[in-house]
Amino acid sequence: MLNPMLGDGKLIYPKYSMGLWEKGATNLEQSQIQMIDDVIDKLEIQDGDNILDFGCGWGCVPNYILAKFPNVKFTGINLSHYQCEYMRHKMQDPESYLSSGRFTLYEGDLNDAQFETKFDKILSIGVFCHVGNLTKAFQKLASFLKDQGRVFIHIITVRTPNNISSVFTHQYIFTHGSFWKYDAVPSHNKDLKTIEKWYLNGSNYSKTFANWLKNFDDSQATVKDLDYGIDYAKFRRIWRFYLIWFVANFASCDGEYNGNGQYLMVHA
Ligand SMILES: C[S@@+](CC[C@H](N)C(=O)[O-])C[C@H]1O[C@@H](n2cnc3c(N)ncnc32)[C@H](O)[C@@H]1O
Repeated sequence: MLNPMLGDGKLIYPKYSMGLWEKGATNLEQSQIQMIDDVIDKLEIQDGDNILDFGCGWGCVPNYILAKFPNVKFTGINLSHYQCEYMRHKMQDPESYLSSGRFTLYEGDLNDAQFETKFDKILSIGVFCHVGNLTKAFQKLASFLKDQGRVFIHIITVRTPNNISSVFTHQYIFTHGSFWKYDAVPSHNKDLKTIEKWYLNGSNYSKTFANWLKNFDDSQATVKDLDYGIDYAKFRRIWRFYLIWFVANFASCDGEYNGNGQYLMVHA
């Protein structure tokens, strides 16, 4: 269900995080390409870098960056078996950059991961809303980073006293998820410290959700017969409520309060 909703292209695999629309993208795929290009610039990715993607989803970001840089190496960490199966399939597909021999997949939890070599760059996109303890996670990421290395984190963030997680999202969408306040990452600077941060206006995520809603509605013929563990009519109502609500939430107050935060970090 998520693949047709998020978009499953030849280069841009399903990506469950914000697309960047403010630079003039006219469709979802372009918005995701422009989002990743923006990360490449901010993280100053160089050809030859050894990069770790914590919470790599379907491998969309690694695939795109491997396509752009012929000497980059990527390692992806993901605890979702279903998403890892998708990547393992791509690792056998000669048309995928995940099959280039430059991509390594670690299926498991960040907390259990160990690597023999350290990384020049670490990125993590749309994952920290699932991380409960920033101090512990940053300590782990710092242990994987070279002395002069850099970390880039992109997350949903809020600039209000309250946040947009709710009983509804906790129960039906992101169990135990939370949306960190914009200053939460820089205030946890024990092992990693933030040297630059950006607030991405909520209109970017609002438009992304609007496109996901359209894709979900357009793919009813194929997604309605999948197994959701509950009656499909109920699942569809819950899911559409979530998508419609998030379109509105990120657009509210001109996108100035509910948006995405990006943080560039180095060893503290
Ligand atoms: C919202 S998705 C974002 C995926 C991807 N970064 C993207 O932009 O499409 C969050 C991802 O983080 C992974 N994840 C969450 N917590 C994790 C953990 N503790 N260890 C490894 N992976 C984790 C999930 O399995 C999922 O792939």
